[in-house]
Amino acid sequence: MKNIRDLDIKGKKLLIRVDFNVPLDEHGNITDDIRIRGVLPTINYALDENARVIIISHMGRPKGRRVEEFSMAPAAKRLSRLIGKDVKLADDCIGPEVQAMVAAMQPGEVIMLENLRFHPEEQANDENFSRELAALADVYINDAFAVAHRAHASVVGIPPFMKEAAAGFLLQKEMDYFHRSVGNPMRPLVAIVGGAKVSSKLGALRNLMERVDKMIIGGAMANTFLKSLGYGVGQSKIEDELLATARELVAQAGKQGVKLYLPVDCIVADKFDARAETKRVTSQEVPEEWMILDIGPATTLLFSEALDDAKTIIWNGPMGAFEMDAFSRGTLAMVQRLASSHALTIVGGGDTDVAIHRAGESNNISYISTGGGAFLMLMEGKELPGVTALQEHNRK
Ligand code: 3PG
Repeated sequence: MKNIRDLDIKGKKLLIRVDFNVPLDEHGNITDDIRIRGVLPTINYALDENARVIIISHMGRPKGRRVEEFSMAPAAKRLSRLIGKDVKLADDCIGPEVQAMVAAMQPGEVIMLENLRFHPEEQANDENFSRELAALADVYINDAFAVAHRAHASVVGIPPFMKEAAAGFLLQKEMDYFHRSVGNPMRPLVAIVGGAKVSSKLGALRNLMERVDKMIIGGAMANTFLKSLGYGVGQSKIEDELLATARELVAQAGKQGVKLYLPVDCIVADKFDARAETKRVTSQEVPEEWMILDIGPATTLLFSEALDDAKTIIWNGPMGAFEMDAFSRGTLAMVQRLASSHALTIVGGGDTDVAIHRAGESNNISYISTGGGAFLMLMEGKELPGVTALQEHNRK
């Protein structure tokens, strides 16, 4: 994949697709700007080259209509502060006013276009919409890893209409780290998979099982595995329809020589509530009326020891209902374990990054992906449409 450094962008108009789909509080303030900070190397490089920078992104799911709460305005303001430069926000992403604004741009200027998803054509990957966006610039840069799994107009539709297209530094870095973790890892490679559902991670579990040396399963999805092995899980969340699949995965691990680790004890609660009554029980003794909401201390120890010889660790999904303090210990203990590990540690998707930030350990993890769905798609062993579009463009 070509990246921005491989192109001559001096003074040129750059259309940079980013993913500034950032969380906002009820007042419209950005609560986490990692995705904006993540593309600063690309934007600063473009500015150093005196390019004219046109930023495009989506925000939320406005379903093809203009919805003010999904405006790019907060992102434009934050970007402006981070680069110490004015970032003008256009009122739309296509149309004569945008064209006039772009035509008047000077080298070193930055503008941001309004939310691409205000137009239904974005998600429909409409050709005319892509052509109109492409016509705004000389070069297309995709630095939107977190949306690279969507075959939308601004992700896959623009490159065919551009003479030059390449990846930004963030997309490049995400792909490089993923390759180092799953494609061509230092071994032993250990995957930690948690979160609520087996169903949403089934593809990832199947693919990882073929590649890892050890697999650790925690979170509510472990309940389905425990039940499939004949344990009683009380009132815990499980997916009955996946019991056979869970059994198959356990058998697949055995056949492929993958060591599979499941919780041996857990924290159970009498209801799903921060103030619920809780106790620690072994996985064999979950009371009928209680539910599993976290891994227990013996499991934490077991999982930690499984990571002792790891050279590469990939983690997706929390170990319990960590948003409630009473059930956060298992997840936070795993964060500490990764933070103190000498292995290459890659974390992505779900809420795992939230737990790491909350523990203040972001700087002690080798790489925290900005992607949710995109990261999961890579874990499933699939190609990202946004990356394929760039590769195909460069083959021409
Ligand atoms: C994300 O936050 O995962 C990306 O921005 C993609 O958003 P989407 O799931 O609404 O397509």
